[in-house]
Amino acid sequence: MKQQLENIRVQALAALDAAETPAALEELRVSLLGKKGELTAVLKQMGKLSPEERPIMGQVANAVRADIEAKLEERKAIINAAVLEQKLAAEAIDVTIPGDEVTMGHEHPMNQVLQTIKDLFVGMGYTIVDGPEVELSDYNFTKLNTEEGHPARDRSDTFYFTDDDSVLLRTQTSSMQIRVMENAKPPICILAPGRVYRKDEADATHSPMFHQIEGLVVAENITMGNLKSALVTVMKQIYGQDAVMRFRPHHFPFTEPSCEMDMQCHKCHGTGEVDGQVCSTCHGEGWIELLGAGMVHPKVLSGCGIDPEKYSGFAFGMGLERMAMGRLKITDLRLIFDNDVRFLNQF
Ligand code: PHE
Repeated sequence: MKQQLENIRVQALAALDAAETPAALEELRVSLLGKKGELTAVLKQMGKLSPEERPIMGQVANAVRADIEAKLEERKAIINAAVLEQKLAAEAIDVTIPGDEVTMGHEHPMNQVLQTIKDLFVGMGYTIVDGPEVELSDYNFTKLNTEEGHPARDRSDTFYFTDDDSVLLRTQTSSMQIRVMENAKPPICILAPGRVYRKDEADATHSPMFHQIEGLVVAENITMGNLKSALVTVMKQIYGQDAVMRFRPHHFPFTEPSCEMDMQCHKCHGTGEVDGQVCSTCHGEGWIELLGAGMVHPKVLSGCGIDPEKYSGFAFGMGLERMAMGRLKITDLRLIFDNDVRFLNQF
């Protein structure tokens, strides 16, 4: 029996040493120490021994059991550590790997310029106002001294909504002059930026939808000098103190006298030519028209309930895209609306 127990010990320790997984270890524990295990089977034969042999064999059996249990614990610790090690390696996260970069958008270049212009006028006391793009012909034309039959009202230039031509997509932000003057008493000093629409083919300087910024100042003793100083002050802030600008006489039904303000073309520097070719940015003009302006027509003032004997005013309407093109040296207006990030990311 002693030999039997000794065999069990040697084989058990060898088997335990060879076990690699927690499952294999558990299987061995059951087969070695369990109720149906080998050791138990040997101990069941103890009754057949003589009273002298029994305590001696009992001691040997206990020692074998203790050895197996100790070995079990030892292997268990080693295998568990290995399992943990494997798990850690498999689930490892390298916290030092750089994350995926989140590319942030930024303000559209045209809105950057709009914000600059707004800031400049707000700094001079102007209030920003907003109004509808779907407008009444009354506001877009009639009350701006542009009677029916005037060429500006032509269906080939204007997007109308109704057969009687009474509702349209505003062709100019000048409609805001009327909306403001009908509702406020002088002194008035407002800036009204917004979209306008015309049936224009798109080219380097035209688009069927573009943005204007309307300005209107009405008070006592307002003169053309006030108009020029306000515009020159702002343009020099935007284009630099050495920017070249000019005022030209012009005609608008709702201002008298009227003028246009041009800026020297930033592409050809006024020559109208680039590398022997007609400059595509100014069509060879050498100048880029920035805005129309003038003194508010007395008929427009009185139509809005403002006494033209007491008050005078100036108004201007500038093209925002053209302002942005000049400021950011963009040579084709269509780029502003293409939303190509390769273009937008340059600003
Ligand atoms: N509304 C005119 C245009 O679109 C510009 C303008 C505005 C002219 C205000 C005079 C006064 O061309």
